[in-house]
Amino acid sequence: MTDPLPEVAAIVLAAGKSTRMKSNLAKVLHPIMGKPMLAYVLDTLQELGLAKVMVVVGHQAEAVQARFADYAVDFVIQEPQLGTGHAVQMAAAAMDGRFPTVVVLCGDVPLLAGETIRQLLQHHLTSGAVATVLTVELPEPGSYGRIVKDERGQVLKIVEARDASPAELSIREINTGVYCFQFAFLKEALQTLRPDNDQGELYLTDVIAAARSRHLPVASLLTTDQESFQGINTRVELAAVTARVRQQINERHLLAGVTLIDPHTTYIEADVTIGPDTIVYPNCYVQGQTSIGEGCLLEPNVKISDSRIGNRVTIKMGTVIAESRVADEVQLGPYAHLRPLSDIREKAKVGNFVETKKTVLHAGAKANHLTYLGDAEVGANVNVGAGTITCNYDGKHKYQTTIGPGAFIGSNTALVAPVTIGAGAYVGAGSVITEDVPPHTLAIARGRQVIKDIKKK
Ligand code: UD1
Ligand code: CA
Repeated sequence: MTDPLPEVAAIVLAAGKSTRMKSNLAKVLHPIMGKPMLAYVLDTLQELGLAKVMVVVGHQAEAVQARFADYAVDFVIQEPQLGTGHAVQMAAAAMDGRFPTVVVLCGDVPLLAGETIRQLLQHHLTSGAVATVLTVELPEPGSYGRIVKDERGQVLKIVEARDASPAELSIREINTGVYCFQFAFLKEALQTLRPDNDQGELYLTDVIAAARSRHLPVASLLTTDQESFQGINTRVELAAVTARVRQQINERHLLAGVTLIDPHTTYIEADVTIGPDTIVYPNCYVQGQTSIGEGCLLEPNVKISDSRIGNRVTIKMGTVIAESRVADEVQLGPYAHLRPLSDIREKAKVGNFVETKKTVLHAGAKANHLTYLGDAEVGANVNVGAGTITCNYDGKHKYQTTIGPGAFIGSNTALVAPVTIGAGAYVGAGSVITEDVPPHTLAIARGRQVIKDIKKK
């Protein structure tokens, strides 16, 4: 369990333009396994129980705010974007002094673990430093800011790679971009920032040197976790982080008792839940707000989004399910297509090349072959013959088809809606049903077979 951190606020930087994504979509809105990048960071902060979270937005601020409207966070607009120090200035100005400790991090680090933030906070609070920076050693430190230390191993300053001397460039300990600050210090130090660097920006990193020049204690925490702060600046990094998140999700399900025949080709999005003893074959996509019960089978190439699947459901190869509900012990597919608002009740069967939309199949009903059921209510234990079509659309409006329990619809029937088939009624194969069929009757609506003698006399 996580202890709440009621006196700590967080500032999340998400205003940058991120040109290198080459996208019309704001970087932090790019989805990673069904969740926008920024949601990972905000969810992690929320799990930590921080008192307040401020998100600095600028580039495409409206879209970002709209997407996170239901999050308990405050937005601060940074316009124009004059650097990370400027971004934190905006947030600090909007924050009263109620929170003595502030965590600062970026919105593009979805792999950052709450535990790492907690360790950093712990270190910061016990050391009594005014600023604590999370660092890591990289074999190839690239464009990251370098951690410059004094002879006692204390952080002196952070130098951006583009501003660094050759000696500084050779330092392998880098700034992850995750920090803790005493808020009172931070607010003051931000006022001392000057854009005297290669980019002409206000660098947050310069508050470290500001602390040292005033003989205030600065700390750093070296993490061994090289991936967790991995930021995303390009789609190459987006793909790499997505692969890692996907692997983490799959491992969570494996450890919880779900069999993934081949985790490398299994795509389960972040918010999906799956019960134990469910078996998932390769190339399945389980997306959005989907829950799958226990003991289910997902054969290859199944795609499920925003749906609730019960227990012991068999979903055969190639089945597609969206925004639907499937009860216990249902059998679907191969190649069934459940479109939105399909509601398949206990032990019903939806077979190959059957499409449903806004349709209830009550318990034990069967539509096993080549059928379209749209805007329909199909009673318990009804048998829908092969090739049955609900003709629910006249080009303008949609109409309802109701089939009573126990009815039997012969193959290749067209049910021209609105129409009701009574309980226990029979419909002869090949019928075009345009009028209601009373319960326990037989309706046949097709041309009678004629036999003509065509032998030459
Ligand atoms: C920053 C650090 C660097 C560190 C690296 C870790 C500075 C000056 N440098 O560099 O030491 O190694 O992070 O990833 O801080 N942002 C704003 N407003 C702005 C500018 C940026 O909100 O005006 C946001 C961006 O959206 C991004 C984050 O701040 O989420 C980092 O900005 P970026 O320009 O990518 O900094 P780096 O060059 O990566
Ligand atoms: Ca960055």
